[in-house]
Amino acid sequence: MKRPIASIVGTGRGLPEAVMTNFDFAKIGIETTDEWITERTGIKQRHIARNGESTTSMAAAAARQAMQRAGVSAGEIDAIVLSTATPDRLLPATAVDLQAQLGATRAAAFDIGAACAGFIFAVTIAEGMIATGTAETVLVVGSEKMSSIIDWQDRATCVLFGDGAGAAVLRRAKHQRGILSAYMRSDGTLANLLYRPSGGACQPFCEDVLTDRSHFVKMAGREVFKHAVRSMADACDRALDGAKLTGKDIDLLIPHQANLRIIEATAKHASVSMDKVYVNVDRYGNTSSASVAIALDEALENGRIREGMNVLVVAFGAGFTWASMVLRF
Ligand code: ACO
Repeated sequence: MKRPIASIVGTGRGLPEAVMTNFDFAKIGIETTDEWITERTGIKQRHIARNGESTTSMAAAAARQAMQRAGVSAGEIDAIVLSTATPDRLLPATAVDLQAQLGATRAAAFDIGAACAGFIFAVTIAEGMIATGTAETVLVVGSEKMSSIIDWQDRATCVLFGDGAGAAVLRRAKHQRGILSAYMRSDGTLANLLYRPSGGACQPFCEDVLTDRSHFVKMAGREVFKHAVRSMADACDRALDGAKLTGKDIDLLIPHQANLRIIEATAKHASVSMDKVYVNVDRYGNTSSASVAIALDEALENGRIREGMNVLVVAFGAGFTWASMVLRF
């Protein structure tokens, strides 16, 4: 096993106040039922940003909590790596708006786009910056206002997602604790199975786009499901191999929270029993790149992660992208 280079020294989360339950879809004219959503996904409710809550404001709430728990001031942050599929503006990066809100004047701030796997990608980038000496203290954030890009007339997608942010502060590892292994992969040949066709440079906004609603997320649900199960299984194997561990050595598995059936299949493949799997998809839905960051923060806060534990984190999303990591706390 390699000597860990970087470790997470504080985490936080930022969630909108408003909660939308499965029963609330009837109020906006969506033909669905609590039973359909629960059976297929395990989701019971999700938080939805309202009244000016944005990707930046949720990120700032998560970041402030992570910095406070890490005992790190804004002036000590060398870099901010923000993962999002829902930037507040297309230019400049949401990370610089976050930097300004935090007053992290010394930091280099930039966004990355790796969809639901983005937080693990961002932590891996932060680890690299610490390894090369480019940065000593890195703030990593996954923040998503998915409610702004889903089609609220498409019942097959709008019931799946929620808004929120999770953050972590990384520093050089001490006492053999930190990132034991990391793995990242992508397959762009499958991009059109989960994407937003319009609104970018290729097909900018125009009246036609608004009419055909092609600026919203389109997803081939069954295909995505199959690839998610396969890729998350592969990613678990790779991270475990990298750390020279097996599923039996894992004290907690934190999978991307998209769907309970995908989570169960991933746990089974990794030989981790469900009592060692963190699940909060029922309360938040799929918050894309915020998902594993929020779960990690909750697990640390409520004592599911304790000192000395090995934690396997794994995610899959649009791109496709998938990634995993073993951390020792
Ligand atoms: N309520 C009621 N009925 C619905 C709803 C809804 N919200 N949505 C779709 N249906 C209907 C469909 O119209 C269809 O009806 P029909 O048979 O009369 O045509 C029927 O339910 C079955 O639709 P499917 O799409 O085949 O349902 P499936 O069992 O595949 O479940 C789901 C759909 C839940 C989206 C599943 O495919 C899935 O979870 N896929 C993974 C997608 C995912 O998690 N994406 C997130 C991003 S990637 C990631 O984070 C892993």
